[in-house]
Amino acid sequence: MRVLIMQEVSRAGLDELDGLELVRGKDPAGCDGAVCYLIDRIDEAFLSTPGLRGLATVSVGLDHIDLAAAERLGIPISYTPDVLTEATADLTFALLLGAARRMGEGERYLREGRWTEWSFDLLLGTDVHGKTLGIIGPGRIGRAVARRAEGFGMRVLYAGREPGELDRVLSESDFVAVTVPLSDATRHLIGPEQLARMKHGAILVNTSRGPVVDEAALADALNSGHLGGAGLDVFEHEPQVHPGLLACERALLVPHIGSATRETREAMARTACRGLAQILRGERPPNLANPQVWPLETGVSR
Ligand code: DGY
Repeated sequence: MRVLIMQEVSRAGLDELDGLELVRGKDPAGCDGAVCYLIDRIDEAFLSTPGLRGLATVSVGLDHIDLAAAERLGIPISYTPDVLTEATADLTFALLLGAARRMGEGERYLREGRWTEWSFDLLLGTDVHGKTLGIIGPGRIGRAVARRAEGFGMRVLYAGREPGELDRVLSESDFVAVTVPLSDATRHLIGPEQLARMKHGAILVNTSRGPVVDEAALADALNSGHLGGAGLDVFEHEPQVHPGLLACERALLVPHIGSATRETREAMARTACRGLAQILRGERPPNLANPQVWPLETGVSR
């Protein structure tokens, strides 16, 4: 059986595919399975490849995959929930703290040689302890962020799908963390109106997907002084970043590294690849993103 490896995968991940023929590239023709990352667009044409029987994505996000087509075509997808929860929550909290304490600005100030002496009001930030954190998306990562917030004595509010929850989070929180997956329902969930509803001086953190937040509107809200800061790991058009954010001192920006620890990336590679190997053996993996396609119908021609 042949597996297409679309981006380099660590040894630990490849070991899970032991015994399978591995080919590198983007073309799934002749392959039984494929391993992709969030930067690979997996569309209907890809999924319709004759003989393709499974996909592994080394990510928890699934917005790069045409899930409706995968369901129609009965292609099971293994993905990486759970193993990246804690690392992503750590980075979310790091961005929250870093934006509150102006760490990006402080570092630039020091490295550029502008620091000449200690001063009483240099780079004053805002307290984190005891403040209110609103979490948009009370899933695994959102709840892990909340556990960290408890240690800081924060009051935590959640916005899920219930009416009124989002408004409450926006209007009452000093910090708002966005942890929802990207879907048609969450694209630009945070736009000009929602930003306007946030408290003056509040800080927005996004570690989910860039398009959940309207970047141009966020740049305006920061540059007008309405928001006190932002901590962003994800962007609407990665790797491009809105010039208004690049120009904004109060935006702490990092390049989509939420799950980027050695331990977590190894676990992600292993989990995704092991799941694909199971699919190809006809076993249901525990980390199936689309369980509705299982059990597989036999005799479906692809
Ligand atoms: C994911 O897995 O979806 C993250 O964005 C990258 O780890």
